[in-house]
Amino acid sequence: MTKIATSILTANFNNLQQEILKIQNAEADILHLDVMDGHFVPNLTFGLPIIKQIKDISKIPVDVHLMVSNPQNYLETLADWGIKYVSIHQEVVHHLHRQISVLKSKKVKAGIALNPATPIETILPILPELDFVLLMSVNPGFGGQKFLPLVYKKIIELKNFAASINPDLEIEVDGGVNKDNASKLVKAGADILVSGSYIFGSTDYKKQILSLRT
Ligand code: DX5
Ligand code: ZN
Repeated sequence: MTKIATSILTANFNNLQQEILKIQNAEADILHLDVMDGHFVPNLTFGLPIIKQIKDISKIPVDVHLMVSNPQNYLETLADWGIKYVSIHQEVVHHLHRQISVLKSKKVKAGIALNPATPIETILPILPELDFVLLMSVNPGFGGQKFLPLVYKKIIELKNFAASINPDLEIEVDGGVNKDNASKLVKAGADILVSGSYIFGSTDYKKQILSLRT
């Protein structure tokens, strides 16, 4: 069953609590939080204090996507707060195995995120250790960007590698997901679809989420 993870990047931050309640009532499976540091990506969002406040009111699992140059500074704290999914970017982490081990030792679902231009092969040695891989289908940094179809081939390739060495691996796709590409993504092998502007661009979040599932 495909999981829908709602990225709050394009939610109304003047009324975030209300937005989160609406997302839960709309039956999203996961709350996806995009942490940006203005360094790894050219945009700045929020950090630990806001994540904690969101986690405290969320009734659905929280997924933290760390688009930051120093993700190691966040991992233990996120784990201690009971964040369910955490992803770190292959492009910035020098010691992937070490940081993934920190997450796994604390029972967090550990993931590596790959930018559109980063090949799957770069994470093959560590694939058996991972709970999920986040494949970016836009260049990270902003919500509301155009979907990059190159991700289909990467999903299929990753699914093939995972079949023999990590069949439980979940594949998460993030960026520009909408009703026009959702079913093709699932068919290719995506397990978790992240969607932001497609959901928040409507007044009926439930309808949007349902359209991604079907
Ligand atoms: C991009 C973020 C995404 C993205 C999702 O850097 O990681 O989570 O904003 O939003 P949409 O669905 O608007 O692309
Ligand atoms: Zn994201």
